[in-house]
Amino acid sequence: MSNEHDLVVIGGGPGGYIAALRAAQLGMNAAVIEKEPKLGGTCLRVGCIPSKAMLESSYLYHETQNNLAVHGVKVSGVTLDLAAMLARKDKVVTTLAAGIDGLLKKAKITRYLGTGRIDGVGKVVVENGKEMTPLTAKNIIIATGSKVANLPGVKPDGDRVGTSTEALSYSEVPKHIVVIGGGYIGLEMSSVWRRLGSKVTVLEFLDRILPGIDEEVAKEAHKIFQKQGFEFRLGTKVLEAKSEKKQAVVRFEGGDPITCDRVLLAVGRAPNTEGVGLDSIGLQLDERGRIPIDDHFRTAVPGVYAIGDVVRGPMLAHKAEEEGAACADAIAGKYCHVNYDVIPAVVYTHPEIAAVGKLEDQLQKEGIAYNKGKFPFMANGRARTLNDTEGFVKILADAKTDRILGVHIIGPRAGDLIAEAAAAMEFGASSEDIFRTCHSHPTLSEALKEAALAVHKRTLSI
Ligand code: NAI
Repeated sequence: MSNEHDLVVIGGGPGGYIAALRAAQLGMNAAVIEKEPKLGGTCLRVGCIPSKAMLESSYLYHETQNNLAVHGVKVSGVTLDLAAMLARKDKVVTTLAAGIDGLLKKAKITRYLGTGRIDGVGKVVVENGKEMTPLTAKNIIIATGSKVANLPGVKPDGDRVGTSTEALSYSEVPKHIVVIGGGYIGLEMSSVWRRLGSKVTVLEFLDRILPGIDEEVAKEAHKIFQKQGFEFRLGTKVLEAKSEKKQAVVRFEGGDPITCDRVLLAVGRAPNTEGVGLDSIGLQLDERGRIPIDDHFRTAVPGVYAIGDVVRGPMLAHKAEEEGAACADAIAGKYCHVNYDVIPAVVYTHPEIAAVGKLEDQLQKEGIAYNKGKFPFMANGRARTLNDTEGFVKILADAKTDRILGVHIIGPRAGDLIAEAAAAMEFGASSEDIFRTCHSHPTLSEALKEAALAVHKRTLSI
């Protein structure tokens, strides 16, 4: 095996392995260095995929227990086999990780197991225990992702105080779980354990949940989650959380300490650049610890590129994937472009929350005149048949041109529905383009069409 490569990618997550696959497609001799035995990064091993597996299973359990009678389906004796649920989740992960291995093999990409460290321009060392493998690389992509952001006073101890990694695999259903941070991870993992029977308390520093999500949608989500039994304490500054005698104690300003079974720390993620050897090539980080790049993913050092969670932009797997493919194109001297104005975001709670484009409050702050159309799922036939009618679709369109500026959805299958909005925006569509497109009946997607009609004050179904 030659240790000389056209491209060495450090990090085998969705950004890294996609970059390598695209590079191989373009005829490059590419390699991926990943320190974990499984490829797929945080997303596949301990993020997007296992959390969605647990969300799906816990939803089915909760629905079977509580919401089938309305359909005339009577069930009794429903019990939880948590070990089987966790095993299914692990199997989904293992199968997908093996799939990535297969893809790399087919594309003749070399996979190195170990930690990749840049060791001067054009040089990378793979460290695996005491074994060191030196590589030479015409091009290097840093795709090392992110790690859990810390909070002073709260140290994940691998016991009662943990991160989403532990929360994906608790061996018993906690009686009471305290979640620090009411963002993506906090709410998705809270949903899983709430459905399985835990009492859930969310401590959020801000006076709202889901910062970064449209305010009207976040308010609706707050109401719905409260109905589901979540306890929210907003405007809460956590001072300390630690394990104490097989339990955990959380101290925060303005209230009595809470004793609980588990604490989940979910206050964001930070770029992972430690030990990557940036010093060896004199690469500086920006004020938020990210690697600065230009619009071709080039760092300040020729031949060194960076993508995904280590660079600016949302920390989302699909954003990293887009950048991975575009970066390989850039290295090959091809056209490369990522449209950062059209990156959808999804929170996989129930109902799901999905967004693309500008927030309403953002348009107001920027002084952009817009028209707004809103349509509730309550008035959507398919949502009625699903018995899943919470939430709405909101479309924001430019007041002069009608071009769609943002779409925000809270409701059933919002994560799938947002794809139509993203495609429309990518094509520069107007809201009229959406409502003039024939939508199948009865589908949830009709709510999007009706919201588009509502932009023009000509909705037909309410
Ligand atoms: P987040 O940024 O979504 O939410 C963190 C929350 O913690 C915010 O509401 C913030 O105000 C709050 N917070 C910050 N400091 C706090 C403090 N001292 N006390 C209490 N609350 C505090 O971050 P999260 O949920 O950890 O997720 C990390 C990243 O992972 C996100 O950037 C997200 O993009 C990504 N992710 C995406 C998912 C998806 O696409 N469905 C799922 C899970 C994560």
